[in-house]
Amino acid sequence: MPKVTIDGQTIDVPAGTLVVEAAKPLGVHIPVFCYHPKMQPVGMCRMCMVKIGTPKMDPATKQPVLDEKGSVVVNWMPKLQTGCTTVVSEGMTVETMAPDAIDARRSMIEFLLTSHPLDCPVCDKGGECPLQDHTLNYGPGKSRFYVESKFHNDKAVPLSPLIMLDRERCIQCARCIRFQDEIAGEPVLGFADRGRGLEITTFDDPPFDSNFSGNTIDICPVGALTSRDFRFTARVFELNDHPSISPMSPEGANIYIGERDNEIKRITPRENEAVNEIWLSDKDRFVNHFAYSAERLTTPMIRAEADLKPVSWFEALTFMANRLRPTIAEGGGKTIAGLAGDRVSNEDLYLFQKLFREVLGSNNLDHRVGWSQWNAGDELVKNFGAGVGTNLGEFGKGSTILVLGADPQNEQPVMRLRLSKAAKQGANLIVANGRVTKLNGSAQQSIIYKYGAEANFLYGISRALIDAGLHKAERANGVDDFVSALNLPVADYADQAGVSEDALKKIAESFAASENGIILFGREFMFAMQNDPAVEAALNALVLLSGHFGKKNNGVIALYPHNNSMGAVDMGILPKEGGLSAKDFGLKSKVLYIVAADPARDDPKFRNPGFLIVQDLFLTETAQKADVVLPAASWAERDGTFTSIERRVQYFTRALEPMPNARADWEIIQDVANELGARWSYDSASDVMNEISQTVPQYAKMSHERLRVTARRRSSVQTVGGDSAEPVQMALGQLFGDVSGAQWASVSEINADARFDVKFVETDDRRQTTDGAYLAVTRALFDRGSLIHYSEIVQSRIPAAAVEINSHDAEEWGITDGERVKITLQIKPPRVLELNARVDGTVPQGVVAVANNLDGTANLPMGARVKIEKA
Ligand code: SF4
Ligand code: FES
Repeated sequence: MPKVTIDGQTIDVPAGTLVVEAAKPLGVHIPVFCYHPKMQPVGMCRMCMVKIGTPKMDPATKQPVLDEKGSVVVNWMPKLQTGCTTVVSEGMTVETMAPDAIDARRSMIEFLLTSHPLDCPVCDKGGECPLQDHTLNYGPGKSRFYVESKFHNDKAVPLSPLIMLDRERCIQCARCIRFQDEIAGEPVLGFADRGRGLEITTFDDPPFDSNFSGNTIDICPVGALTSRDFRFTARVFELNDHPSISPMSPEGANIYIGERDNEIKRITPRENEAVNEIWLSDKDRFVNHFAYSAERLTTPMIRAEADLKPVSWFEALTFMANRLRPTIAEGGGKTIAGLAGDRVSNEDLYLFQKLFREVLGSNNLDHRVGWSQWNAGDELVKNFGAGVGTNLGEFGKGSTILVLGADPQNEQPVMRLRLSKAAKQGANLIVANGRVTKLNGSAQQSIIYKYGAEANFLYGISRALIDAGLHKAERANGVDDFVSALNLPVADYADQAGVSEDALKKIAESFAASENGIILFGREFMFAMQNDPAVEAALNALVLLSGHFGKKNNGVIALYPHNNSMGAVDMGILPKEGGLSAKDFGLKSKVLYIVAADPARDDPKFRNPGFLIVQDLFLTETAQKADVVLPAASWAERDGTFTSIERRVQYFTRALEPMPNARADWEIIQDVANELGARWSYDSASDVMNEISQTVPQYAKMSHERLRVTARRRSSVQTVGGDSAEPVQMALGQLFGDVSGAQWASVSEINADARFDVKFVETDDRRQTTDGAYLAVTRALFDRGSLIHYSEIVQSRIPAAAVEINSHDAEEWGITDGERVKITLQIKPPRVLELNARVDGTVPQGVVAVANNLDGTANLPMGARVKIEKA
């Protein structure tokens, strides 16, 4: 570790550390503009100039030369150096307060301000602006230039429906361009023109087409990039920043809710290096307006003849209880079913299942609303979930990541960033699916297998592991039987999966050679698990035989679709012991209680089964059919916990006063239970979590107290020598390295002696023998969900539904890009859609893909055979 002395303080730092980073632990702030610790240094702005010297060496002894006082003689470099591009070397001396360094910084500020409008009093960045801070701390105090001679560039240039650019404020640091290029992998910004006219521009159509565009606002060191919903609505120093978790993020992205006067003004990222680092998807950032929409429910309602009429909470609960009591008395809870959306908190979900199992006497519970989110693989997660402390952002050489049947760009966008980053850092990223997704661009090995042949694909890898003698059997029962049942050569499995034998062998070898191995499986893979039980068996076998489980950075991650899908599984919102699943609720239940879900929106055949209770934020399509409607509080109006797809339980605080009459879901559920004779007395969500920690084994010892991260109130200026503890870390590039939340440990990790069965299940490949094209059901990031619907700013980001067709198929079928086509699903009863064709090469021949969360495309069955013709 090289030793460096900065402003008289000496520190050992890891080899390769930049001078700007070496200075931070010493409390020495070297101001930067273009440098950001999350991106490669470029040395463009020259703000970080420092005086640097190295020890003068005696050529004879190869030892440092000492002066008469015994101190090392320093060879000062003839010119100032940029601290952001200079790597520390042994014995280096740095002076940040040398007169020429001070002078250089002062000159840089003066120079930058010759073309800057100095409109801080109206600028959104004012109060958290590095240029403003550095001008105060390092600038000359006055300028030798006349205001009239400033170069004026365009102001208020719409870069996209989400982002506005003020070209006049831009200091040409290229952070935004580099973020889009290096981090997002969507290089849609660039510089145009030259000299003082140099300007940021977007050169794609639609403009600034990225799922991550909002991050450029945070890291822009001036107010050049602003969000179109926050712009001019509040000053940043008026905001209360409440630590929270995104209600849109399956990855559990950490956020601040910037609140003023009981309104959400903006969402910004909160650093959590094990989750989202400092990044958010645009969905996390911009879908929040629903929380204070004028269309929120503000009163309970009950059906009186044809209409829903507003009533008091007392009337609504009495009405419900009077209807539920005789139903319970007649048939126990067998005819009562409960559907809870996986966007509400663990505390809500826990009490919902307790209400059903203990008060209503029903196991008819589910959180899987439709085809779009039919989660599977929970047993695999329970047994082999990625080890506690796993951090995909730290993956690099020696790690293999296998991603199966997933499209994280559209479903878990922050996860996509982290997987791409891991690949850049040297991890061996293998992406396998039946079609091409954005993640393929980052992969070392891209596999396009035949949809429907997932089990054979995995069996082929296991066979290759076994043939090479690389499999592990220490913790598996039934290995011999499995090996003899797996009786085809690798080439045959490869042939059936539509991939090469070499590809399967290469995956097996890289898994065996890697210190860390992790498998992520996505929604398309979960569809395959439902269609063919062999798929889950084959994945279970591969995990066991690879030996990559039960420890940090090894195991499986299920890429579930919503912010608390994992919590819904953990809290038991699944049919157990003979209970009905959501697919059968309509047929066999007489009473349906729905919390935070809108099945009628996706299913025109949805019916009120006899008595329908809906608890939600809005009068959804389902609520319009209800007998009782109960107004719930949004996530911003109460506290609680969500569990991310990496099984990280995270606490979110209350940021807003609830809408009139709206109450937290757990409070409503408690009142319903007590109205039916229970004697629950939870005073807070924290009380509920205390009970969860007693009854849900994985959550033992968890409490709000332990999960809570002290909210750091961000203050705007980090002055030299000032006592502000909270710089604006995103923009200044001063990060804290925070990690928060608590992961629960899998069975294989808790119990190192636990053994697991490995079984061969014959694959069911019937679907490969039928005619027509294979329908792959995909998802769009922005969809028709009710929370998105009430967030006006993102409406233009919701794509029109389309069908993706391979160019060879399109030619054969006589279809051109953009043409209207008729799609006939060969199911019973048949279903016909009319959509525009997109001929773009992401699907292989014989496959067509449709996102099933857009207008007219809900509830499409993955794997259906379809016929396509001109409309
Ligand atoms: S817009 Fe902001 S981030 Fe982009 S180059 Fe200009 S100052 Fe830098
Ligand atoms: S040149 Fe170092 S921060 Fe820009």
